[in-house]
Amino acid sequence: MSFHLLTKARNRTVFSYLLSRAFSHGPQRPGRPSFGIAFDIDGVILLGNSPVGGSPGALRKLYGADGGLKIPYVFLTNGGGFPEAKRAFELSQLLGVNVSPSQVLQGHSPFKQLVKRFENDLVVAVGKGEPAAVMSEYGFRHALSIDEYASCFENIDPLAPYKKWTSNLATMQNSKFNESFPRNDVLSKRVQAAFIVSDPVDWSRDIQVLCDILKTGGLPGRNVGPQPHIYFANDDLEYQTKFPSERLGMGAFRIALESIFNRIHPHCLEYTCFGKPHPSVFKNAEIVLQKLVASLYDDFYDKNHDKTSSFKTLYMIGDNPAVDIRGARQTGHPWFSILTRTGVFKGKENHDKFSADLVIPCLEKSHKYVNLFPLALLSFLVVDTVEEAVDYILAKECAS
Ligand code: G3P
Ligand code: MG
Repeated sequence: MSFHLLTKARNRTVFSYLLSRAFSHGPQRPGRPSFGIAFDIDGVILLGNSPVGGSPGALRKLYGADGGLKIPYVFLTNGGGFPEAKRAFELSQLLGVNVSPSQVLQGHSPFKQLVKRFENDLVVAVGKGEPAAVMSEYGFRHALSIDEYASCFENIDPLAPYKKWTSNLATMQNSKFNESFPRNDVLSKRVQAAFIVSDPVDWSRDIQVLCDILKTGGLPGRNVGPQPHIYFANDDLEYQTKFPSERLGMGAFRIALESIFNRIHPHCLEYTCFGKPHPSVFKNAEIVLQKLVASLYDDFYDKNHDKTSSFKTLYMIGDNPAVDIRGARQTGHPWFSILTRTGVFKGKENHDKFSADLVIPCLEKSHKYVNLFPLALLSFLVVDTVEEAVDYILAKECAS
């Protein structure tokens, strides 16, 4: 195939044709796939709330002609702020495919593991969206958003008079707020833990009120006391949205809070971070994908309900080398990491520190190699989008 044709026809069909030719070594395998896919969201599927990199088309390829899911996949994001069911509905709207709540794994999803410990305790939930609703859906019975909690303490935020949005936000958020938690209780009850559910909105107020809670054993305005625990859904320093360069993430907020707290308290801040790159997140995603396959293919479990097979390959498609790629690599088999260039990573070659298993070949570059060796071996070139990632996976797995 001539160079000219390649450059001229920089479009999908050529790419997927090349791929199918490169991988057409096996017969089409009907039935249960031995692979699954985990999609990062920010920088891979969406920028802000706009699809990127042909993500709607890429996802449609994972569904059969009858609209049923054919290839098991999950969204594995460090983001959050809304209950999984609500986020699944929103993603279905944005991407034009049917996403079920079990396919949405968010940064705060592991907070479910802490319900037993704090079920009946007063806890404060921080971040954009509906952090208190997220926590009460998990079973925390006395979770207040920091908006609601702060509204109980007059003058706790000296800058509030300069902020147009704060006043009525609190009452609006959790209509049951007043009934379930009379103000006096809030003023007298110790906060047992703080949960940073999603990216904080009002940093100055949030840092002030969190320091008040953490410094005083959970009773703002009182004496210094033992620090209640604080949990972060992720520790991303930066992430990609619509603005050309990365935006500060929850990790930047954690650094700001920690450095201030450590200056005003005798002991350093103790905290726990969840989210990618922790291998536990990838291990949990594998379990969720197995359950998904079991719901799609009834031969996943034999009559003794033992798993008849496990995944040969699980693909993590991410845009952040230090989070998505590092996590998949740390977790190891069966994870295979693919890096796209639509988000945090914008490099030409592979990432020097957290190199992906495959940085999808890009036509301009690949033509030099096509005559040298089949595409399958091109694993260190950069290309752009999640759609090319899916094409590569489907061709490699002969599932297209
Ligand atoms: O706030 C979310 C952001 O930190 C990263 O999200 O989807 O790229 O893991 P995501
Ligand atoms: Mg991302």
